[in-house]
Amino acid sequence: MKRAVVKLLLGLLLAFATGQQTTDDWDIYRFHINSNITSRYATTIITSRVANRMNESKEIEFHVQIPKNAFISKFKMMMDGQVYDGVVKTKEQAQEQYTEAVSRGQSAGIVSSVGRTMEEFKTSVTVAAHKKVTFELTYEELLKRTHGKYELQIHARPMKPVKDFKVNVQINEKAGISFIDVKGGLSTKALANAITKTHADKQAWVYFYPTVDQQKTCDSCGEEGMNGDLVIVYDVNRDNGLGDIKTSDGYFVHHFAPSSLPRIPKNVVFVIDRSGSMHGRKIKQTRTALIHILNDLAEDDFFGLISFNREIFHWKRKPVKATGLNRERAKQFVLNIREGGSTNINAAVLEGARMLNTHPREGSASILILLTDGDPTTGVTNLEVIQSNVKQAIAGKFPLYCLGFGFDVNFEFLEKMSLQNNGVARRIYQDSDADLQLKGFYDEVATPLLTDVTMIYVGGTNLTQTNFSQYYNGSEIVVAGEIIDNNVEIFTPQVVAISSKQKVTFSNTNGFMDSSVSEGLLQRVWAHLTVKQLLGKELLLSGPEKEKVNKEALELSLKYSFVTPLTSMVVTKPEGENTEVLHKPKEGEAPRLRSHQRNTLAGKRYFFQNQRGPPSLPQLPPRILGLLPVRIVKSYFETDSTFLTTTPAPVFHRFLMKAENDTYPLCFDVIGAVILKLLHHPSTELYINGVLDSIINGGFKKIVIHVGTDYDIEVDTEGISLRQRQTTIRYTTQDPITTERFTVIRRNKETEFTDADVHLAILVHEKDGNKFLWPVLRRPPSAGNTEGLLALNRVQYEEVHQNVRKTVKLANRETDVQRSSAVDYGISSPINMDCWFTSADFALPRPWNDFLVVQL
Ligand SMILES: *[C@@H]1O[C@H](CO)[C@@H](O)[C@H](O)[C@H]1NC(C)=O
Ligand SMILES: *[C@@H]1O[C@H](CO)[C@@H](O)[C@H](O)[C@H]1NC(C)=O
Ligand SMILES: *[C@@H]1O[C@H](CO)[C@@H](O)[C@H](O)[C@H]1NC(C)=O
Ligand SMILES: *[C@@H]1O[C@H](CO)[C@@H](O)[C@H](O)[C@H]1NC(C)=O
Ligand SMILES: *[C@@H]1O[C@H](CO)[C@@H](O)[C@H](O)[C@H]1NC(C)=O
Ligand SMILES: *[C@@H]1O[C@H](CO)[C@@H](O)[C@H](O)[C@H]1NC(C)=O
Repeated sequence: MKRAVVKLLLGLLLAFATGQQTTDDWDIYRFHINSNITSRYATTIITSRVANRMNESKEIEFHVQIPKNAFISKFKMMMDGQVYDGVVKTKEQAQEQYTEAVSRGQSAGIVSSVGRTMEEFKTSVTVAAHKKVTFELTYEELLKRTHGKYELQIHARPMKPVKDFKVNVQINEKAGISFIDVKGGLSTKALANAITKTHADKQAWVYFYPTVDQQKTCDSCGEEGMNGDLVIVYDVNRDNGLGDIKTSDGYFVHHFAPSSLPRIPKNVVFVIDRSGSMHGRKIKQTRTALIHILNDLAEDDFFGLISFNREIFHWKRKPVKATGLNRERAKQFVLNIREGGSTNINAAVLEGARMLNTHPREGSASILILLTDGDPTTGVTNLEVIQSNVKQAIAGKFPLYCLGFGFDVNFEFLEKMSLQNNGVARRIYQDSDADLQLKGFYDEVATPLLTDVTMIYVGGTNLTQTNFSQYYNGSEIVVAGEIIDNNVEIFTPQVVAISSKQKVTFSNTNGFMDSSVSEGLLQRVWAHLTVKQLLGKELLLSGPEKEKVNKEALELSLKYSFVTPLTSMVVTKPEGENTEVLHKPKEGEAPRLRSHQRNTLAGKRYFFQNQRGPPSLPQLPPRILGLLPVRIVKSYFETDSTFLTTTPAPVFHRFLMKAENDTYPLCFDVIGAVILKLLHHPSTELYINGVLDSIINGGFKKIVIHVGTDYDIEVDTEGISLRQRQTTIRYTTQDPITTERFTVIRRNKETEFTDADVHLAILVHEKDGNKFLWPVLRRPPSAGNTEGLLALNRVQYEEVHQNVRKTVKLANRETDVQRSSAVDYGISSPINMDCWFTSADFALPRPWNDFLVVQL
């Protein structure tokens, strides 16, 4: 078996290797990144000039990364004296143009991917023999102050060493630049002499001009040249009054970030998910982060800790003072947080809110922080109901921050819930530094300086957000707006807030306002901020209000030519080539290729779409072959490698039997595409069967729910078919199907079936690009006899320890077991679990044959 695989892999490697050698027929002879930051607004232009050295025409690619926070505002290609400009259009118009091209058989989609902070932009064009092309991309972003600094991230990866490679950054800050630093993977010793940093009072410049040799030899660089980030870090000087106000052309931008204020004690409650999906590194990193956070609490802070799965575990029922002793005790609680069980977000957040509501502390800043990695699966699971419960409980009294761990959280749900409660949601990337990300987020809100901040602008209009529940040290409040009739004389900014128990007012004592900003810039800042906030607001609204906000954001995006989630950029290419449509991906958007894109990946049109996508599912564990008819398996492979194509290998499906008292579950394998009895409930005439997949290891290919004598519901990975007597209707949309008896809702990765008190979810998982189903009985029928795999209770066994073998005793039967692992597909983000491997006959309370049916 090994031999065959190795041969195949070698073949692939060779193919790659030979493919690489023929690419030296084009040359980037200029690659420039110019960034101009004025008053925290960064405009970056990437220019790449490429020559086709071949005798024939060639497709040339332009491929760069830009910050997620940025909006692309311009893109053009210049070739043969012609300029091809990108035009920002509504999604519908762009789509129309795209579809039209598709129907002419021209189309293709190239998907772009997104990292933690960057999005990928990719396009290509055919360049005639010995001709050149210039690509020019412009993007704009408002730098956000966190931890006392602004950061501009520049990603440099031209794909080749470039003779004329330059990064130029210019910073103009009227308030004065307090420090500037260059960081990132490219700021290493080997490249130190390529970086020049100049710092004047109000201006700074960073130049990065690596030689061709340096581009090949730096860390993470190679024959393909540079590959890394340059991060420019700086902060500005600030007074302790009203801050920095700029006006120009009837617009103003106000940066408010006083730092020499006394800190306000916190009254903070952490609500920590300890459901089964937090298993492994996630829960460990959460513990680590919490220990650091507890260490950093000040003596006059109060804090509470709640962990939850389907139940709620308090450390103390009310927030306590962060004395040394209390912090030590809380650490013990943290170290003992163990994962397992389902996720009752509703109950947990409401309990956190209750703790803060019933123990408010005057003169302190209350904060509620939720950390979760999954969807609510128990208790109240309707997202809207949870949101409305939470909103009602918090009633604007304190902010709720939601940290979504990994990619299986419904980030939009968390985002909405945070926005509804004056907070923000943040994604924690499942990575080795997740504990630092958690701590980093906490540090952002660790030092409240003001609460109930109201920004007032007499003579101002069309203001961006003016009310902020809290202001933290190291952050910044930014407000932009128009000045009525550009009447700067009347325009009076003022800030009213509460600073440790007393009301404070900041006003412009010296009357200074900087009006020397270049034309049009503040207007763009205003538009940028307004669009960002409208997009957030839109999330919270519905119906006509949502439409109105949507329309406003769309109009501004079009007017200022921003590629936002509401607009697309259409790039019309030279005759004979395709038009391209560029979309901005949504944070955390699943990388679903639309079906028309799936077939057309090889071409030249792209959708600017998020590819990061679902985390790769854990691999199925190695089989314990001793207990299975392995000889068959081996004989398939040991004959010859060409065999692989003709005989399918047998497929295994591993099942988990959860055990009582937190002991390891039992697991067993089922071979082949058998049909299983999942749930039979004769008293309500509900029969659910499923057939296992015959091609991939994992789960079910199809599940059929028979309801009474009237309805059969067939669920597969792509949709639902509902058969009522003689008629069958196919559903692939997300509209609920409701009959007088049951409801079926098909969502993205889950189909929900509700019949009286029965609640069944059918999850769709993906492994190696193949989808399969996994059923979960969220609520069993309350009365009557039930049969089937889903109706089984947890097993309760006894471990009989012996020296050489491990023996497990279950209901007076004993068997040897081996430690193995299995993937729990019963949750939306599958996790790997350790288990005792045994046979189905041993693990199940009845003979295996009792769980087989002959017909779906
Ligand atoms: C940067 O922007 C400022 C203000 O918009 C402008 O005065 C300056 O000329 C620009 N610098 C460069 C190098 O484009
Ligand atoms: C390219 O053109 C030159 C001169 O016309 C010719 O000598 C050479 O063989 C051509 N190369 C290829 C790869 O066609
Ligand atoms: C706020 O941050 C500044 C600068 O980092 C620091 O000097 C100041 O002490 C901080 N204030 C408090 C209350 O921690
Ligand atoms: C700005 O406000 C005025 C009214 O104060 C309104 O007429 C105008 O449409 C607004 N402009 C924008 C771009 O929203
Ligand atoms: C902002 O706060 C002030 C005072 O607290 C209040 O009067 C006003 O209605 C608030 N505005 C918004 C838009 O919430
Ligand atoms: C397991 O839990 C059951 C009750 O659910 C209890 O009777 C039994 O003693 C527990 N066994 C162990 C080993 O804790």
